[in-house]
Amino acid sequence: MNAPHTHLPRHLLTLDGLPNDALNALLVRAQAFAEGHYDRRALDGIAVCTLFFEPSTRTRMSFTLAAQRLGADVLNFDASTSSTRKGETALDTLKNLEAMGVRGFVVRHQDDGAVAALSQHVDDGTVLVNAGDGRSAHPTQGLLDMLTLRQAKGHDFARLKVAIVGDVKHSRVARSDLQALRTLGAGEIRVCGPASLLPQDGTLHGCTVTDDLDAAIDGADAVMMLRLQRERMEEGLVASLDDYHRDYGLTATRLKRAASDAVVMHPGPINRGVEITDEVADGPQSLILRQVTNGVAVRMAVLEALLKG
Ligand code: CP
Repeated sequence: MNAPHTHLPRHLLTLDGLPNDALNALLVRAQAFAEGHYDRRALDGIAVCTLFFEPSTRTRMSFTLAAQRLGADVLNFDASTSSTRKGETALDTLKNLEAMGVRGFVVRHQDDGAVAALSQHVDDGTVLVNAGDGRSAHPTQGLLDMLTLRQAKGHDFARLKVAIVGDVKHSRVARSDLQALRTLGAGEIRVCGPASLLPQDGTLHGCTVTDDLDAAIDGADAVMMLRLQRERMEEGLVASLDDYHRDYGLTATRLKRAASDAVVMHPGPINRGVEITDEVADGPQSLILRQVTNGVAVRMAVLEALLKG
């Protein structure tokens, strides 16, 4: 099966501005991969490195599997055991790996804009994928969330009411999801969280914004819960985890307010008992592990499009 022309930029740094046809082409390709239609030699002879300066389980492992399934040579860079510990910069690290012949870099970094900044210094023929930078963007999470939503609810996003709940302010996932949902024409996007965890920078334009969780999920077709990102949070933004759970935790009782066939999503890792209960996370409406499964297929589509397209 040949890859469709996807009109992708050279690097995948964000979903902001990615045209509808490119986004859809990636989802179509990812669906084919999810169904097992792929060429195990598609990236034969191409070296791909996961260059992570922040921890990860899902993104890093699924990019590794994705690259391996397409036949790439895969290197996993671990900042904690690398010369980063001796003070080597991210750019020097990347340039040294590039000098070894690595052509694809999947980069996660704690700083907003770090991956875009690195992309200014790479050789022709080298491509970068943003695997999450600060609070800014996590484009492949946005794509896998859209694939999961599409599998569950069909292609007509105009029919959908989607609620995004929790720590939106610190969430690169929320930003990428919002961009993708707008591009795909979601009918209504509701955003809910305490005022202290909602961004005031225009991120939420066009959304219905509320601090009332019951109102946010009332009749919703999909409830996308976000992780409370304590590592990025200043002190005092939430009173206590118990208070947060009481006001913004998704429980089975609360979920009854959503549409009867509503689906529940979460990018992981989950703070069980904080933003979501075990009963909901592991319940019949949860697509959380389906999201993880789809992550491999989406990342295969992205690597193929950038490295072979
Ligand atoms: N959803 C996500 O990015 O998970 P990881 O931090 O484990 O990669």
